[in-house]
Amino acid sequence: MTTTLREPTVPPGVTCPFARAAIEAAPATTYDPFGDVFLQDPYALFSRLRTEAPVAYAPAIDMWTVTDYDDVDAIFKDPQTFSAAIAQSPLDPIAPEAQRILSDGFRPLAVMSNLDPPDHARIKWHTSRAFSARRISKMEDVVRERATALVDAFPASGEIDLVSALAFPLPAVTIFKMIGFPDADMDLLKSWCGNRLVMTWGRTTPEEQQRIARQMVSYFTYCEAFVRTRAAEPADDLTSDLLATGLEDGTLSHAEIVSIIYGLSFAGHENITNMIANTVRRLLEHPQTWAALVADRARLLPNTIEEALRFDSSNIAWRRVTTRPVTLRGVEIPKGARILVLLGAANHDPRKYADPETFDIERPDARSHLAFGKGIHYCLGAALTRLELGIVLELLTDRYPAMTLGANRTYAYTPNVVFRGPTTLRVVL
Ligand code: HEM
Repeated sequence: MTTTLREPTVPPGVTCPFARAAIEAAPATTYDPFGDVFLQDPYALFSRLRTEAPVAYAPAIDMWTVTDYDDVDAIFKDPQTFSAAIAQSPLDPIAPEAQRILSDGFRPLAVMSNLDPPDHARIKWHTSRAFSARRISKMEDVVRERATALVDAFPASGEIDLVSALAFPLPAVTIFKMIGFPDADMDLLKSWCGNRLVMTWGRTTPEEQQRIARQMVSYFTYCEAFVRTRAAEPADDLTSDLLATGLEDGTLSHAEIVSIIYGLSFAGHENITNMIANTVRRLLEHPQTWAALVADRARLLPNTIEEALRFDSSNIAWRRVTTRPVTLRGVEIPKGARILVLLGAANHDPRKYADPETFDIERPDARSHLAFGKGIHYCLGAALTRLELGIVLELLTDRYPAMTLGANRTYAYTPNVVFRGPTTLRVVL
């Protein structure tokens, strides 16, 4: 566990002269995203990093952390210098046995979040068209219906885990339906998603890697077969739209479409599950804020969603890699350095937000948060996220205006550098 910022010496494994210089110049660099104190409250460490070492080298993950809003914003806006190529790469090397398993069927291409210009624009253009406002608004009824059915299944009173009862099943079914996956496969698909995130953004044992690798191969080959089926029998779904616009005029390959579907099916739910849990937790931790939302929902709901994204986003970091040497806040960073932009830190930057550690659903500039990134890679799922979160909050404020947090307020988080949300959230209805 390391939330101590002071490192007396450069760790022996750090050989890069730039990293050594950075540690010596600013010893306040011990950022370890896997420690329990950090997982419980990353914002305390973010705040200290911002003050003591806004640009620092973190030996625990061999990455350079950046905390200030302006710096993160500038990095997002400069894809030439800060490539997105490593956004989906495993944090640690994959062990040979898991690699062997993956080589037998897991063949995703870089298609969006980890693709640089000029190809990124081509793929994003097509996917944005398929992920259109029309398709999202068509999903509104599906989301409302599904969310209502899940809430209808709550007991009349007592305590429940909101994650397993609502926050987990709702976004998964929504994105799977949008893609067009058959209802009958939902449980199978959800079981494959399991711990996939720890393979890419966490730290795993070789045995765990093998288990996850098998699931990834199954999931990917499922996506391949599904896209083949849709190519033969189009339906009213996002996959068929992609095939119609991209494949027919030759601007997207079949393999790219499979990779887009694979990527969306993952990106489309984990983040929203966590975001629902984070938002409800923060609202219930502040009973007056919850009461205000219940009383004046029409006015407060949109900004509540933005403030939750700013204050406790489900995505606290993202990755880039430098394409040339750069100097950030006086710190020299070599070409090829892996950068971790700490979105959670940027969203709490006191130079950007007044009283940033206060959860304030009336904050006038909440929407300027960087939770969805910025620039060419701006999150494709922002509108869907806002839709699902809005429907959940409408239902909960309507049905359970007196809801409170359960007695157990210690939360467990999956150790990883990017995704943040409690694995369970006990609420009293
Ligand atoms: C709370 C929910 C979500 C958060 C906090 C979030 C956050 C992010 C962030 C930080 C990025 C990187 C932006 C950048 O590199 O500049 C991103 C990209 C992306 N997100 Fe989301 N996301 C969420 C939900 C979703 C959903 C629901 C989907 C899809 C259904 C989605 C799909 C994507 C895709 C495809 C990209 C890559 C876009 C590109 O490279 O052009 N996200 N998201």
